[in-house]
Order: sequence, then C-alpha cells, then structure tokens
Amino acid sequence: PIQVKKVCCIGAGYVGGPTCAVIALKCPQIQVTIVDLNQARIDAWNSPDFELPIYEPGLADVVKATRGKNLFFSSDVDRGIQEADLIFVSVNTPTKKSGVGAGFGADLHYVESATRRIAAVASSSKIVVEKSTVPCRTAESMRTILEANCKPGCRFDILSNPEFLAEGTAISDLFNPDRVLIGSLQTQEGKDACAALASVYANWVPKERILTVGLWSSELSKLAANAMLAQRISSINALSAICEATGANIDEVAHAVGYDSRVGPKFLRASVGFGGSCFQKDILNLVYLSESLHLPEVAAYWRQVVELNEYQKRRFSKIVVDALFNTITGKHIAVLGFAFKADTGDTRESPAISLIRDFLAERAYITVYDPKVEEAQIWMDLSEACPHLTLDQIKRQVTIVHSALEACKSKEAIVIATEWKEFREIDWQTVYNNMTKPAFVFDGRLLVDADKLRRIGFKVKVIGRGEVL
Ligand code: NAD
Ligand code: UDX
Repeated sequence: PIQVKKVCCIGAGYVGGPTCAVIALKCPQIQVTIVDLNQARIDAWNSPDFELPIYEPGLADVVKATRGKNLFFSSDVDRGIQEADLIFVSVNTPTKKSGVGAGFGADLHYVESATRRIAAVASSSKIVVEKSTVPCRTAESMRTILEANCKPGCRFDILSNPEFLAEGTAISDLFNPDRVLIGSLQTQEGKDACAALASVYANWVPKERILTVGLWSSELSKLAANAMLAQRISSINALSAICEATGANIDEVAHAVGYDSRVGPKFLRASVGFGGSCFQKDILNLVYLSESLHLPEVAAYWRQVVELNEYQKRRFSKIVVDALFNTITGKHIAVLGFAFKADTGDTRESPAISLIRDFLAERAYITVYDPKVEEAQIWMDLSEACPHLTLDQIKRQVTIVHSALEACKSKEAIVIATEWKEFREIDWQTVYNNMTKPAFVFDGRLLVDADKLRRIGFKVKVIGRGEVL
C-alpha cells in the first residue's frame, strides 16, 4: 500500500486533538501536525505545563509522550497541508442557525473552507479524510471542489473515516476501538487510498476491526450509530416516566430488559436527558436528510427521539418545582454538575443548562459546582440560554463555587445534573446538617444511595423511581 509518512489534521478540537495525538503515539514513524485557525487553542495545546484546551482522562500523558517528537500543533494551516500526504478534516459541523435547513441541517461552511484551502495550497497529491460528522454525500461535494481547484499533477482521493470516540473515555476508546470505519469509492485509486489509511490504524487496531465500506454507507453509518444510541436513552427515559407514575423502578426495568442478549445492558441509564455536541445535532441532521429525501415518516420517527429528550429535561425541572411545594421563587438550590457527562469539561447541550434556565425563569437562586467546567464557560452558556436576561441579572441569581459542600450549604434543595464520581462520595450527613429543612435531593443521574440519604433525613427524588417523597 501507499506509505503514509506525514499526517496533517485540520481542527484541533475534541476529536482532532485526541485522535491524532493517539496516531502519533501508536505510529512513531509518522509525523503528525495538528493545525487550527484558533491561535489560543493552539497555544494551549503547546502550553509548557500541559494545560491543554480540553480535559480528557489520559490525554495529557499521550501529548507528553509525543509532543515535539512526532506530534506538532500549529496555526500555520497552509504549511501543514503542503507537507502532508494524508489530511484529516476534523472541523466543527454545528447545526445551522439560519437560512435553509435552519435548526436541522449541518452548517458545512467550516468543512468547505478547509477543503478550499487544501485545493488552494496543495502542490502534491493528497489523501483527504473526512473525519467530521457530515451529511450523506458530503464527500462528493468535497471531491468536486478539490478537482475544480487543484493544480496540474495533483490528485485527491477522498475517504470517509467517522470518529466514534465518546468524550470522557476518548483515549481508551481510541486505544481500543470497537471498530474503525473507512469509506471509499470502489475504484482502484479509492481502494488504494483506503488501504493506506487502514495501514495507519493497523499499527494498533486488529485487522478484523477495521471495516471498509462505500463512501455513502460510511457517512450514513455515523449518523445511524448516534441516532440509535440516543434512541436507547430516549426509550429508557420514556419508560422512566412510566416508572414514576406506577411505582416501578427504572434500574430494575433496565436490568431486566438489558439481560436479553439481543438488547444488551449498556447505554440504558435513565437520566435527566442526554447532552453533548453530537446526539441532538446528528439526529436533526438525519431528520433533515430524511425530509430532503421526501421520507416524512422516517423524519418524524427520528425527530421524536430529540423531542422526548426535551420533554425529559422539562419534566425533571417540573419534578423539582412540584416537590418544593409548587414554588421555587426566592428559594436557594444547589446544582451539582454542569458538564454534559462526567469526566469532561465540555458543556455543549448540557442538560444542566436547560435546568438552570427553567429555575431562573421561576426566579430561584442557584449555586453551581462542577469539578472541571471553567467559570467563564458557565456564564457564556447561561447568557446564551437566557437571552432576555443581562449577564448582571444572571449573576444576581447564580453563584459559582468550588466544592460540592460549599454549593449545598444553607440550600433547600440539591439537584444532581452530572454523574461525577466525587458526588457519590459526598459527606451527606454534613451536607444535611448545613441545609434548610426540609432538605431535598433530586437525583437526575441515578447516582445516590436514596435509602441511605432518607435515613439521614433527606427527602429524595430519583429519576425513574416511583416512591413517594
Ligand atoms: P471542535 O469545535 O472542538 O473543534 C473544531 C476545530 O476546528 C475548532 O478548534 C475550529 O477552530 C477548527 N476549525 C474550523 N474551521 C477551520 C478551518 N477552516 N481551518 C482550521 N481550523 C478550523 O469540534 P469537535 O468536537 O472536535 O468536532 C469536530 C467534528 O467531529 C464534528 O463534525 C463533530 O460532529 C465530530 N465528532 C465529534 C465528537 C465529539 O465527541 N466531540 C465525536 C465524534 C465526531
Ligand atoms: C457520543 C457517542 O457515544 C460517540 O460514539 C460519538 O462519537 C459522539 O457522541 P458523547 O456525546 O461524547 O459520545 O458521550 P456519550 O457517552 O454518548 O453520552 C451522551 C449523553 O448521553 C450524555 O449526556 C450522557 O450522560 C447521556 N447518557 C449516556 C445517558 O443519559 N444514559 C446512558 O445510558 C448513556
């Protein structure tokens, strides 16, 4: 196969950074350069004390082992492109905010400008790999742009290689992936390019886990995988509402259902709702694709997965208000966790944001603690979620603190929004002693030992459990 010696990754974010750092670690013979237009982000990746721009367990060790040897971070995008024989495009593809397909379709302008840059500056042939999650047939548009703009003698082969890592476990997912998926045209050149990329992964991934398929199947498989994963959560969350109404227990139901080997036990944890930068965006993308293909029933089916998630978040806010005697105006509530899941500092689409927005609408006072999310990020997210409030107004109602104990002091209720392990180890007796009574705990993450807390004196409400308070 074609030997890959130099790799460039355009986009130094949650995907490009960890993915290409792991390639550098596992392939010492390959030089990897990760480029980004965002200078501050590149500076953070290069920081002398490894204060990296994203928090991901194990990532700093990988960067320490490779940076300056065969891993480089740079804002010189053009040079990165020129030197590489294989280029990953790993830029953001957010949901469009305006124009055609607003609220559903993917905003592809970052992908397009990266593609145009490759065409403009490449002076030798390249394998271009679509790493970003994109709608079906985006590779075709990339090929058209590249071929229309390339220099004589340059050829471009396009591959699709979607990323399946989950945040918080990115490094172990990359070390030991369930599968690596590579899509290519079924021409000889397409198959050769596919073999070249497969030989990079073969440095550490067993051959049978490297799947090669057609381009469109590869692109669609990424949207399909996220849609089916999110659908499991919406299914279990829909059942959690039935549990609360009937007195059943969602943990027991999930356990019993998951024991069926056809269903399987993973990813059936009821919650306050799924968050993260991918699930909602990718499903809306699939909805938009289905509608464009004149498949309204298919679109409606997938749309319901997102709608159920919105319902679950609203439902949880209402559980809090109802239990606190139908009013939280002027009450003090601690929100534990702001990230969309544990072991990440990422807050994109975090359910904590929707909960706090709802509580602010009721004019409650909120104290937030999260072990990893930066204060500035919290203010930015709340300002965006509450456009009718000024930042000053928000700051009058919200306080950010630096420990769970401090957050809970003198509060009437505690809401658990993220399943950080440290929340499991809180000294609940001390928390209880320092709270206003009756003291409530609302567990949106099936995290606490409810019986233990009740013995201390708390009133406890856990998502998906039918007990009375
Ligand atoms: P991100 O926003 O963290 O990173 C994208 C980076 O690309 C940014 O730093 C931005 O400055 C840079 N960029 C944008 N346009 C550029 C250009 N023209 N030239 C150079 N740099 C440019 O996004 P992310 O979370 O890493 O996601 C990237 C893609 O991977 C998305 O399509 C996403 O759907 C997909 N994905 C994300 C995850 C995840 O867990 N975050 C998992 C799988 C797939
Ligand atoms: C997801 C996919 O898992 C990953 O394969 C893809 O590459 C990117 O999108 P990510 O969003 O990083 O990864 O995290 P994930 O672990 O999937 O969690 C997403 C959300 O679902 C989180 O808010 C999480 O708390 C929630 N969740 C997850 C549940 O509520 N219940 C579960 O059982 C699992």
